[in-house]
Amino acid sequence: MPGVSQTGPNLLPVVSIAIVLTFTNACFTPMCAVLLLHTFVRYTTLHYTAVVMTDTTQDTHSNSKRKALKPDRWLKPLVLLLGLIPAIWLVGRGLTGDLGANPIETITRYLGDWALRFLLIALAVTPVRILSGWAVIGRLRRMLGLYAFFYVTLHLMSYIGLDQYFFWPGIFQDVIKRIYITLGVGAVLMLVPLATTSTDAMVKRLGGRRWRRLHILVYPAGVLGVIHFFMMIKADFTEPTIYAVVLALLFAVRLYKKWA
Ligand code: HEM
Repeated sequence: MPGVSQTGPNLLPVVSIAIVLTFTNACFTPMCAVLLLHTFVRYTTLHYTAVVMTDTTQDTHSNSKRKALKPDRWLKPLVLLLGLIPAIWLVGRGLTGDLGANPIETITRYLGDWALRFLLIALAVTPVRILSGWAVIGRLRRMLGLYAFFYVTLHLMSYIGLDQYFFWPGIFQDVIKRIYITLGVGAVLMLVPLATTSTDAMVKRLGGRRWRRLHILVYPAGVLGVIHFFMMIKADFTEPTIYAVVLALLFAVRLYKKWA
């Protein structure tokens, strides 16, 4: 019935997103979701203890109210919600059939873009804290890093599930033959230990010094992410150039701080 396919809704984007989400749900995404939820629950518990307990023990209502308005009270939940916007936006675009002529490419690229952006934003936290002296911002680093990993896993799964249809020999060939994919895999392999050691328990287990040393991996991961971006495009290098400059500046601030 030719009329049906012409007038019926284009389900490809919706089905594609459903496949990616189903697959990622079974793999890495729950891990990131649990870690993000853990951060949120921990934060709200601390908030409750700080505000409500202050109220009952000291009965200084105005004091606790002032505390509740401090940036460290609202910044984390705000950033937690903001971090979800790109994912929600993509689902919205999928549901409204606004993914362009090549939805799979749009999804993979969009998720890759946000993976790199969150990685750079997470990397920017410490330099911004050093330059501005705004200590509170330091508490966002872990959450932003987890968001980078969240979008990286979605990006990777959209490549595996949508682009390659889980055709493992083809994926393996790509990893070996296409250098930008090899570099992407390298970046992911560097990010995995960072995400898995992001809980307080793991920080304690590793010890602050070893944990910090391990987390230096985020810089080479960022470098590989930027080169991965450079290598896969053929024209208009503006965006990866901006990311490369930002990454270099962030690194320079860290080095300056170390040796100054
Ligand atoms: C196993 C790991 C990875 C694989 C297999 C992979 C695969 C891909 C593929 C196939 C594309 C091109 C999409 C297309 O043109 O259809 C792409 C683009 C991209 N990827 Fe990855 N990637 C990986 C890791 C990463 C990582 C770790 C990052 C960043 C931290 C990243 C960031 C990007 C960016 C920014 C783009 C370009 C988006 C654009 O054109 O606007 N990728 N990736």
